[in-house]
Amino acid sequence: MNTKLLRQNARKIVSRTILAADESTGTIKKRLATIGIESTPEINRQYRQLLFTAPGIEKNVSGVILYDETIRQSTDQKVPFSAHLEKRGIVPGIKVDKGTVQIPTLGQDKFTQGLDKLSDRLAEYKELGAKFAKWRAVYTIDKISPSDTIIERNAHDLAVYALLCQQADIVPIVEPEVLMEGNHPFDKDMVISEKVFTKVFELLKEYGVDFGGMILKPNMITSGKKNAKQADVKKVAEISLKVLKKTVPTAVPGIAFLSGGQSPDLATIHLNEINKMRNKNKSSYPWRITASYGRALQGEALEAWGGKKANVQKAQEIFIARAEKVYKASQGKL
Ligand code: 13P
Repeated sequence: MNTKLLRQNARKIVSRTILAADESTGTIKKRLATIGIESTPEINRQYRQLLFTAPGIEKNVSGVILYDETIRQSTDQKVPFSAHLEKRGIVPGIKVDKGTVQIPTLGQDKFTQGLDKLSDRLAEYKELGAKFAKWRAVYTIDKISPSDTIIERNAHDLAVYALLCQQADIVPIVEPEVLMEGNHPFDKDMVISEKVFTKVFELLKEYGVDFGGMILKPNMITSGKKNAKQADVKKVAEISLKVLKKTVPTAVPGIAFLSGGQSPDLATIHLNEINKMRNKNKSSYPWRITASYGRALQGEALEAWGGKKANVQKAQEIFIARAEKVYKASQGKL
């Protein structure tokens, strides 16, 4: 394990924002269906190329998470996407989990697949240019979920994954996502998120993961999407920071929020408010706080593109405009 390299790369990855362009085959199919387009490897490639070649992307984006299909694809000029990004000063990464499976005996609980042969896959992804990885665990809130059993299980899996990554000199993004879906109140989201993050760091420590060479990708603390009483921006920012302060070791260099289904504007405003508060008291919140958004960075550009070549330039401009705002928000300067 090259700790110095891991720490250096982790800091580089969070220096601006991280674009999550790692939708699995099933998820990209759903996203493209929203604009009436059928997903094929070639259509997926054209769409990702639109994002990765957008003029000025490197000013706002410091890391891009790719999917297995995407890391094997290239630009029209036959430059592999990972090499293209690297040349622009953007660190290429890879989603290595293999999605979630429901455990019917545990209510809405799901566990994440993908540990089998993970070391072999990491070695291959490294050859293909990946310098960091992502693994997502999800937690649904309802009457019985998430169970203590799944909170424990997911924490073990995230820790094993993170350690295997570091042993391969790949920076792990550790993503425990307490889902916004449902009608739970804000306070429940706060309590569950704190419990989940606490357990995750307990196990990361137990397995000997180097905190300086990893990135946390958490949810913000919000009300459930269907709850009639939505917490305001200040409360989301204040409590998200409070929970992170209680649970995230100071040695972690960066926290990159997921957007989780928030609109692009709301995800941007929340991040800005969080950083405005952080700026007032940086010694209490020592980590860099940025975004690793999928939907909130891509949604508007996807719609503007609509699958038409004639719209590529316009869609790229819209993508960059959003990326610029999110980068500014990550500095509390919006
Ligand atoms: P969203 O920002 O769309 O939640 O996606 C982030 C991500 O990578 C989820 O794993």
